[in-house]
Amino acid sequence: MYRTHDCNSLRKTDIGKQVTLAGWVHVLRDHGGVIFIDLRDRAGLTQVVFRPEENAEVAKEARSLGSEDVIEISGRVAARVPGTENPKLATGDIEVIPNRLQILNRADALPFPIDAEIHNEDLRMTYRYYDLRRPRLARNLRVRHRVAKATRDYLDSQGYIEVETPILSKSTPEGARDFLVPSRLAPGKFYALPQAPQQYKQLLMVAGVEKYFQIARCFRDEDLRADRQPEFTQIDIEASFVTPDDIFGVTEGMLRAIFKAARDIDIKAPFDRLTYREAINRYGSDKPDRRFGVQLVDISDDFRSSGFKVFRGALDAGGVVKAINAKGFAGITTGQIEELTETAKLFGAKGLAFIKVENREWKSPIVKFFSDAEKAALQSKLKIEEGDLILFGADKWETACEVLGRTRLRVAEIQDLHGKAAKGQSGSDWDFLWVTDFPLMQWSAEENKWNAVHHPFTRPKAADVALFDAKKFGEIRAEAYDVVLNGVEIGGGSIRIHEPELQEKMFEALGVSTEDRQSLFGHLLRALRLGAPPHGGIALGLDRLVMLICGEDTIRDVMAFPKNNRGLDLMTQSPADVDPRQLRELSIRLASEKRLEGRAPSRP
Ligand code: AMO
Ligand code: AMP
Repeated sequence: MYRTHDCNSLRKTDIGKQVTLAGWVHVLRDHGGVIFIDLRDRAGLTQVVFRPEENAEVAKEARSLGSEDVIEISGRVAARVPGTENPKLATGDIEVIPNRLQILNRADALPFPIDAEIHNEDLRMTYRYYDLRRPRLARNLRVRHRVAKATRDYLDSQGYIEVETPILSKSTPEGARDFLVPSRLAPGKFYALPQAPQQYKQLLMVAGVEKYFQIARCFRDEDLRADRQPEFTQIDIEASFVTPDDIFGVTEGMLRAIFKAARDIDIKAPFDRLTYREAINRYGSDKPDRRFGVQLVDISDDFRSSGFKVFRGALDAGGVVKAINAKGFAGITTGQIEELTETAKLFGAKGLAFIKVENREWKSPIVKFFSDAEKAALQSKLKIEEGDLILFGADKWETACEVLGRTRLRVAEIQDLHGKAAKGQSGSDWDFLWVTDFPLMQWSAEENKWNAVHHPFTRPKAADVALFDAKKFGEIRAEAYDVVLNGVEIGGGSIRIHEPELQEKMFEALGVSTEDRQSLFGHLLRALRLGAPPHGGIALGLDRLVMLICGEDTIRDVMAFPKNNRGLDLMTQSPADVDPRQLRELSIRLASEKRLEGRAPSRP
C-alpha cells in the first residue's frame, strides 16, 4: 500500500497515529539540518519534518531530495510547535515525523517553478503534464468534470439519452473549414471530422429518439482565439415536438444544475430575452455584456436638420446618429481618445466624435455646430452630467451600432467596469441572456451570394416564410437563438426545417445547385421525406462555459491538452511529418515531393 491517507486529510484528532503518505516534494526547506517538506498530492499539502535527532539516517537521505521528486513516507502524526500552525492549510495544525522514506522517482531540473505565474505559454504547453500539476489547473479539470457530470445527470433526469455520432463523417460546404481524413480503402476520397453533430442529431430525430444529447467533440479549422480551439467540446442537444420555449427551459434547468454542482451558485432563471435587432440597437452586439449599464441611444430624430455636416450627411444618406454616455470618463486622455478612434475606424467608422463634460463645460471640437435645441435633446436623452464622456457614431445603422458597441466594450475595459464583477460568487454576477430572432441569411458581397447565418437547416419564422417568394432573403428572421453569459456566446441553436419542400427552398435561396443538394445533402432530404417530426435543439460550448465558471480568460486553461494559438501541440510536436509509406497507402503525394520529382530528370 502506497498510502493510508491523502495529503489533505490529517487533523489534530489524528495526532499520535502512524500513517503513510505519498506524493511530490512541493517545497523543501533546510533549517540547519532539520528538513521541512510540503508533501503534495492532488488533494492538498501536508508538512513532513525530518529531524536528525529523531532519525539521523532518514534525515540524511531527505537532504538529497529536490522539488517534484516522488516519495513515500511513513511516520507519526504530531502537533506542530505552538505558534507555527498554518491556519491557511487544512492540515496546518499537524506535521508528520517520518521513520521511513522511500524515493519512488526523481525529477530532473524543472522547466519552470510550479508555484510561480508563468507567462511563457509555449513553455507551459511543451511541459503540459507538468503544468497541469499546478493547483489552479488541477482545480479547473475537476470543475470541468463536475460540469460534465451535472450535465449528464440533469439531462438524464429529463429523459434525454446520450448517443454517440461518427467522428469520421462527411465534408459539407457550410460553416468553417473542415479537417479532412484520407481514406485508405477508397483511394482519393476523404472523410471530414465533424464541425458539430448537426445532421446526425437531426437524423436521430427522424429515427424517433425524441430526446438526444451528447458531450460531443467538434473540429473546426478556423483562426484561433482565446475562446476558440480547433478541437472543442459541445453539450449538444436535440428534441422532437418542441418550441423554442421548451429548449430554453431545458437549457436553463441544465445551467442551473451545472452552476450548483460546479460552484454552489444559484443562478436566476428564466433568463431575459432580447431580439437580435434590439441587442444590436441597444448594445451594438449580438452577445451583449450587460454587466455595465451603458446603452446606445438613438439621436437621429434630433439632428435631421442639423448644421453639423457629419451628422446631417449620415442621416441624409439613410443612416443613423447614435451615442453612448461613458459615465464619469471625461478624464480620458487624448491618447486614449485616439486609440478609441483608431479602433472605431477598424470597424468602418469615419470618425468618433466626442464631448467631455468638465467644469460644467462641454469640451468638444463639434459642439459649436449644435443648436440649443440639439444640445437640450442630448442633455435629456443621454442624461449628461459633470464628468461624463459622450461618444458619437453617424453611419449606416449596422456600422454605427457595431462601432459604438465595440467602443462601449473598450471603454469598459479601460475603466475596468467588468473586471471586478467577473470572478463573482453571487448569482447576480452571472448575466445570462437569450438573443432571439437572428436573421436567417446574410449577403456575402465577397462570394456574391446569400449565406445561412446559423446553418442551412434553421427554420424561418412562420410569419416570414412568404418573404422567400418575394426574394427578400435579408428580411427573413430565423427561429434561432443564442445563449449569452457575461458577453460571451456560450451556446446557439434553432428550430429546424422538417419539411422537404421548405428545405429545398432554403437550399435554393442559398444557391446550392440541384446536383449539390443530392450529393451533399441527399441523405437529409430523403430522411425528411420519411416522416420527420418537428424538431429543434441547441449546442453549448462546454469549454467556454467552464472557462467562465473558473474565472479564466482562455479556454486553453480548462482543457487538458489544448493546441496553442498557431494550432500546434508543442508537447507531442504535432502536426508532424509522416512516413512516406503511410502516404503511399493513402494514395497521397505531397506537392513538395512532386516538385522534387519534377526536378529529377534534369540530372545527368
Ligand atoms: P455553433 O456553431 O453556434 O452551433 O456552436 C455552438 C457553440 O459551440 C461553441 N464553439 C466553440 N468553442 C470553442 N472553440 C470553437 N472553435 C468553437 N466554435 C463554437 C460556442 C458556440 O456557441 N450545430 C449547431 C448548434 C445547433 O444548431 O444546435 C452549432 O454547432 O460556445
Ligand atoms: P471632421 O469634420 O471629419 O473633422 O469630423 C469632426 C469630428 O467628427 C471628429 O471628431 C471626427 O472624429 C468625428 N466624425 C467624423 N465622421 C464621423 C462619423 N461618421 N461618426 C461619428 N463621428 C464622426
